[in-house]
Amino acid sequence: MKVTVVGAGNVGASCAEYIAIKSIASEVVLLDIKEGFAEGKALDLMQTATTLGFNSRIKGVTNDYAATAGSDVVVITSGVPRKPGMTREELIGINAGIVQSVSESVLKYSPDTIIVVVSNPMDTMTYLALKATGLPKNRVIGMGGALDSSRFKTYLSLALDKPANDIQGMVIGGHGDTTMIPLTRLASYNGTPVAQHLTKDVLDKVAADTMVGGATLTKLLGTSAWYAPGASVSYLVDSIVNDQKRMIPCSVFLAGEYNQDDICIGVPCIIGKDGVEAIIDVNLNTAEQEKFDQSATAVRNMNQALNEVLK
Ligand code: 2OP
Repeated sequence: MKVTVVGAGNVGASCAEYIAIKSIASEVVLLDIKEGFAEGKALDLMQTATTLGFNSRIKGVTNDYAATAGSDVVVITSGVPRKPGMTREELIGINAGIVQSVSESVLKYSPDTIIVVVSNPMDTMTYLALKATGLPKNRVIGMGGALDSSRFKTYLSLALDKPANDIQGMVIGGHGDTTMIPLTRLASYNGTPVAQHLTKDVLDKVAADTMVGGATLTKLLGTSAWYAPGASVSYLVDSIVNDQKRMIPCSVFLAGEYNQDDICIGVPCIIGKDGVEAIIDVNLNTAEQEKFDQSATAVRNMNQALNEVLK
């Protein structure tokens, strides 16, 4: 299996690293526009193969899309990350043009690929990649919900003081500080509702911390996070290339599901070799559906800015 990661910055390099270390794909191509940068990162990563015990080949290239030919999955991390105090939405002006041209170049050499979008604002960039390529909706996937859910489960495990892998939970809606929706009602600790173990105030704080999870890290690091984003992408890519059919909240095109249409936004999906193989209806209650509708309105407003790009 061949996976290309476009953008060899922090997120792209972490993503390539986890895909290789976990032997998710035998071949990983890392592409960047900065001369020699992806080559350097790929070589450095390759030199961890014998000590970490993996055999995946990692190849770095400078803007050479021919080297990405025949990729089963292409991950797009290109564009600029946010700086402290910025919202993901403020990046649209720069990132839209980049994501559009990258997705078109990728498709030229890998017409059967599945595209995973990481660039922000992620839901809008996913919608853009879908429209720019004309790919069927199962083959363009935004990764935000996977990351937001991992942050939600981390905060829950800290609040519960229980192991992270004993926690289930997901975040749906937009991948934005005010648009994501941690589904607290459905979160569980080994099958028992978290509400049985935590007070409402603590649960509200977990949800609030989750929503600003990325912003908190941006403030601490001076730039956007990379370990958790890279790991979340590798988790998603693993489910595609190994046809694991995991249920992962992802930003995907809705055509009536969750009462929304003509939008890419986070909902729970079955992810397998065909990309988005099903969208799962979790029967939101009235308050949750209201939040989802508000989130969709915010994402749709953001998508308006694409009218110029997609002309
Ligand atoms: C984040 O939330 C990169 O948007 C990403 O950290």
